[in-house]
Amino acid sequence: MVRSPDAVALAEAAATLRAGGLVGLPTETVYGLAADATNPTAVAKIFAAKGRPSDHPLIVHVADAGGVDHFAASVPGFAQRLMAAFWPGPLTLILPRRPEVAAAAAGGQDSVGLRCPAHPVAQALLRACAEVGVPGLAAPSANLFGRVSPTTAAHVRGEFGSDLLVLDGGPCRVGIESTIVDCSRGVPVLLRPGQLMPEQLSAACGQAVLLPDAVPSAVPRASGTLEAHYAPSAKVRLMNAKELQTALDMLQGVDKAPLAIAVWSRTALRVKSTVVLARRMPDDADATAQQLFGQLRDFDAQGVKLIWVETPPDAPAWAGVLDRLSRAAAS
Ligand code: TXA
Ligand code: MG
Repeated sequence: MVRSPDAVALAEAAATLRAGGLVGLPTETVYGLAADATNPTAVAKIFAAKGRPSDHPLIVHVADAGGVDHFAASVPGFAQRLMAAFWPGPLTLILPRRPEVAAAAAGGQDSVGLRCPAHPVAQALLRACAEVGVPGLAAPSANLFGRVSPTTAAHVRGEFGSDLLVLDGGPCRVGIESTIVDCSRGVPVLLRPGQLMPEQLSAACGQAVLLPDAVPSAVPRASGTLEAHYAPSAKVRLMNAKELQTALDMLQGVDKAPLAIAVWSRTALRVKSTVVLARRMPDDADATAQQLFGQLRDFDAQGVKLIWVETPPDAPAWAGVLDRLSRAAAS
């Protein structure tokens, strides 16, 4: 059930997690499906519930930078500088893993993904968990494998039903998943773009954060990096404004249709509202990220078959949005 995150609900959530159960966890990026990262039976429940292959590593959430020592075997200086600059916040660091901990959560990798979320409810739950002997929470996005990530508590209930305890932390502020930087290979490598931009990361860590192409062997199989992911039921197509207008003009002869096509664009287009469901994309990348997954879900709920999206601008601030839209369009 969806619960307001008062002291009683937080204590109940911590107890559920301590006992090996799952909890829907609000973070500033997207909602997570959380389990005790040190309990392999609990972690197996995440993989089963999501239908996610168990060799896909999960991100482990910790209350603060101090929680890192429990999971990481070592932390290079550039990773420490990234933590100091961006934690708590939407940044995940891949670090060498202590061999004796969290093997299941790490999907068998010799590294572990660690993140300290900024959302106050996530912070409160992580602290309550630490008090009852749970040093970290494995939490992938709380959606079925390959589907659109949830940005509200209602989205999570829609994915997993009302038996799951979901703490309602309101709509997620960032809206797309954390930026992931691999810090386990001697140099920082950007594995997944998010709200934080490469320039910001490079400036904070005092050296260039490399793109995966620069280090071909650096990328382990990771679900957030699969080509087709984040997919709504409707088919997503990315087009520039001109292509979009041409496609819309080709619907000329149609007077009334069962609104099978949705359009999400920054540019104002000529659209017949009886034929096409049109929504405006914000001009701002952060606002677009915040709305992205909810908008895709909303189009699905309206029953459209096609979602035509205006390609985001080719600028660093839009990289996270472009990444998620491209993967949505690839399936
Ligand atoms: O914003 C987020 O990161 C959200 C919220 C809930 O915190 N979580 C999230 O988790 O997106 P998930 O499981 O959907 O994505 C985890 C990503 C995957 O691409 C996974 O492969 C990668 O992190 N990852 C985790 N641990 C890793 C590791 N040891 N090595 C390489 N990639 C790893
Ligand atoms: Mg995910």
